[in-house]
Amino acid sequence: MINDKKVIFSGIQPSSDSVTLGNYLGALKNWVTLQDEYSCIFSVVDMHAITVRQEPAQLRKNTLSLLAQYIACGLDAEKNIMFIQSHVPQHAELSWILNCFTQMGELNRMTQFKDKSQKHPENINAGLYTYPVLMAADILLYQTDLVPVGADQKQHLELARDIAHRFNTLYSDTFVVPDAYIPAKNAGAKIMSLQTPTAKMSKSDPNPNGCIFLLDKPEDIIRKVKRAVTDSEAEVCYREGKDGINNLLTIYSTVTGKSVDEAVAEFTGRGYGDFKLAVGEAVAEHLRPIQERYDDLMKNKDYLESVYKKGAESAFSIARRTVTKVKKKVGFII
Ligand code: AMP
Ligand code: TRP
Repeated sequence: MINDKKVIFSGIQPSSDSVTLGNYLGALKNWVTLQDEYSCIFSVVDMHAITVRQEPAQLRKNTLSLLAQYIACGLDAEKNIMFIQSHVPQHAELSWILNCFTQMGELNRMTQFKDKSQKHPENINAGLYTYPVLMAADILLYQTDLVPVGADQKQHLELARDIAHRFNTLYSDTFVVPDAYIPAKNAGAKIMSLQTPTAKMSKSDPNPNGCIFLLDKPEDIIRKVKRAVTDSEAEVCYREGKDGINNLLTIYSTVTGKSVDEAVAEFTGRGYGDFKLAVGEAVAEHLRPIQERYDDLMKNKDYLESVYKKGAESAFSIARRTVTKVKKKVGFII
């Protein structure tokens, strides 16, 4: 705990030039609500991103852009620690040590490793394999109490807990054992692809119309929603089997703040065309001020630099304390 507040840590990889609407509604938008109640640390996890081949100039651009997107979405640099993972060398340092406390059998079970190595058979590198250990280091360095992550990251968080517990048992209490942060109500809902509404909305969607990006132009957002796959009925309601409509209702209710029931009532007796247009416009309207703030921030590189420099200093001083403790415990001369 820092200042009696529980510590929250989370991060997103800078692996594209814009986060998706899924990242925003499932993660960033909820982080904004946590910043007063918790001591929050949000990282742009560039070291995770290189487990997949990145073009260097593009990675640099994406990293700065993701920091600007954090701020544009409402994360306050005065209230939170925001930093770039590779600026704090303790992530790599602790990760090595924790590698020696992680079993290959545990890593072999990680479903993300299996998925990603299938997707990139030409580059199944050791970093991709030990990625969950780096993620455990990210979390454990800051004595994190709570980690807001989506369902896809639960397995990695479980591993971080197991590693922390194992180390604590061997060497006496060293790490806080982190819990998953479960958002209130239906916040953090999983947003599905507009084209394949049974699959998660993801930047790697094979159909570019399946995914909305935070920085998409309003006309592109509206076009993508208009083309969203729905069903052959004509009733706007939330019901099992209506994956496309259910997803649009979730999106609409999250961006407008209305409940799904209110949304359904609003569109009773109206066609899918009308409904889709309203959803597209609501999303575009919701993202407009965020995009404006983003454009301003990207014109102010000095400010962004001041944020990540200050963030790295604060993160460094916490991380260094943990690593010193760990080094002593394992028997390094310090
Ligand atoms: P990723 O881009 O997969 O690294 O995810 C970064 C964060 O965004 C994680 O907390 C994910 O759980 C969340 N996230 C990614 N895609 C979605 C989605 N379609 N719906 C909800 N949350 C998502
Ligand atoms: N692995 C996470 C993802 O792909 C990103 C991440 C890295 C993370 N380190 C973290 C999330 C620590 C939470 C805490 O989404």
